[in-house]
Amino acid sequence: MPTPTPVLDRRGFVAGAAALALAPALAARRARAALVPEPFALEARKTTHLLAPGKAPATVWGFNGVVPGPVLRVRQGEELAVRLDNRLDQPTAVHWHGIRIANAMDGVPHMTQRPVEPGQSFDYRFVAPDAGTFWYHPHERSWEQVARGLFGALIVEEAEPPRVDQDLVLVINDWRVTGEGRLNEAFGTAHDRAHAGRLGNLTTVNGLIAPVFPVRRNERLRLRLLNASSARVLRLQLPGTSPHLIAVDGQPVAPAALYGEDLTLSPGNRVDLILDVLADTGAIELKDQGAKGEVIARLEVAGEPVRAEPLAEPYALKPAGIAEPDLAAAETVDLVMTGGAKSEMDMQTGKGDGPVWWLNGRAHMGPEPLFRVKRGTSVVVRMVNDTAWGHAMHVHGHHFRVPERTHGRLRPYWWDTVLVERAETLKVAFVADNPGKWMIHCHMLDHQAAGMDTWFEVG
Ligand code: C2O
Ligand code: CU
Repeated sequence: MPTPTPVLDRRGFVAGAAALALAPALAARRARAALVPEPFALEARKTTHLLAPGKAPATVWGFNGVVPGPVLRVRQGEELAVRLDNRLDQPTAVHWHGIRIANAMDGVPHMTQRPVEPGQSFDYRFVAPDAGTFWYHPHERSWEQVARGLFGALIVEEAEPPRVDQDLVLVINDWRVTGEGRLNEAFGTAHDRAHAGRLGNLTTVNGLIAPVFPVRRNERLRLRLLNASSARVLRLQLPGTSPHLIAVDGQPVAPAALYGEDLTLSPGNRVDLILDVLADTGAIELKDQGAKGEVIARLEVAGEPVRAEPLAEPYALKPAGIAEPDLAAAETVDLVMTGGAKSEMDMQTGKGDGPVWWLNGRAHMGPEPLFRVKRGTSVVVRMVNDTAWGHAMHVHGHHFRVPERTHGRLRPYWWDTVLVERAETLKVAFVADNPGKWMIHCHMLDHQAAGMDTWFEVG
């Protein structure tokens, strides 16, 4: 047996000492690794997707090559870690829509972060404060990137979710498809910008044309509906059923039966429903009254009942405890929307790339915010829609009440996006309690691109 040389001995000793010295650090790193999970890889890239039966798949963009992107699920209070890899040939970023997030993670290029250049990546890490149904999408050229297929659902699970048999996430969006089944690639046209935005001619659910979801009698379903369309306002119905609304824009509401009422979801909105399947056989149709009553998905009842009777237990969700704005003491700001087709400014619209919409007479975000307040201030933004079009106004980083409105029905919800009907005036009220720079913009993405965005600052 050869005797080890002194050098090896020495090396062995040195290595051993180093290993010993490193051991606590290593243990600490291991412990940290257990606490800080590897980020989930989210890759924005080109892919293909079937948009017309019998035709070749269309070229679209998707997160991880699928449309919609993967459903991200995280427990309330747990950290979500996502690494965005940009494999597109233009800059991008991911915005976490509806999450009352730390400002640096809000994903707004040029305001909360640098755009993520092609080939680059960006790490998002945050703790989702509220359970609920949220979503993610780019905030760079969103009028193109979202319309090409970049969006997905983010589900934050309650610590004790209500008991259901199926938790179905239905991501709804529309596409503008050519006769050959390709994606129409004329994005941001002057006409779309000045009118209702880019409305599609094909609505899909989870990327599929009229998909069928198998269900059984007496099953309890939780349906999470998300409108990821660039411009289409969905008016959904589930005829013959009476689902209960349990959350709007991710925030719990006192459960209320819908009794055939339309569920209006403007771009960006979500609702959670509880639906007990009472039918024996047949199909429950999900229809969009906004698109002439088109059936966009079916729940097909088949097989043995899952139990003898429907579940009787309650399913109300625990409210998030968002601070109520003090309306009497609130700082009030006007936000007057003008422009668009059929307006006085119509002469200026429809020409080239210029702005088409104005907020308080200004197109796009200026160097100065719409308002700047101390943290904890109650704010009322009085939105005056002086245009001939509806606008889905979205506030970042906060959920808000709508204590007054002239057109739509008043509802006791916490919204993050509200449809301001044409010629309507409504008040958006919230406590500005999340420090940072936050956007307010129209979620009809062509409108946003053509001037309908502004920002505020919470100090
Ligand atoms: Cu869903 Cu500012 O966006
Ligand atoms: Cu708009």
